[in-house]
Amino acid sequence: MQPKPDHVIAIYPGSFDPITSGHLDLIERGARLFDRLIVSILRNETKEPLFSVEERMEMLCDAIGHLSNVEVDCFNGLLVHYAASKEATVLLRGIRAVSDYEYELQMAHMNRRLAPGIETVCLMAREAHSFISSRLVKEVIALGGNIGGLVPPSVEQRLHERLHVSAESNRKAALR
Ligand code: PNS
Repeated sequence: MQPKPDHVIAIYPGSFDPITSGHLDLIERGARLFDRLIVSILRNETKEPLFSVEERMEMLCDAIGHLSNVEVDCFNGLLVHYAASKEATVLLRGIRAVSDYEYELQMAHMNRRLAPGIETVCLMAREAHSFISSRLVKEVIALGGNIGGLVPPSVEQRLHERLHVSAESNRKAALR
């Protein structure tokens, strides 16, 4: 068993397409637990993202500006290889509901098998964020629903622009 490093580096990996308020909350809480937190976007995803990696990195950078020990990056290939290259000893993930647990458990076991020196730490999402996902946020805004508070304001603006939903029609939809 390796001793605790003086400077604990954690990776928070994900798709972040786009970052939600739930992600941001986890980042803020992770920033209080670890000396350095690297929020990193998986580059080689098979699923078709709404935003490019560069756009997602910009949105993340905008959202974490107030956190001095947090940075944004992207990676290819195996997460544990990337984590080792950053000298990280922790993988941070969030769990919103029991339905997330099985997936996270499977990944944590696989990652431990691949790299026993790297621990997965899961934080429970706040109750108020437990239903938020990037996928649902995109679906709701695309159909004219109100996503205020579910994503950082700058991300909401970008979603409006990308999905050509006017603020007015969104407001009307919220009042329906
Ligand atoms: O936000 P997501 O889509 O749930 O994040 C999934 C992610 C990026 C953490 C996972 O797909 C991943 O780590 N991919 C990198 C490839 C890898 O290491 N696969 C083995 C994981 S056990």
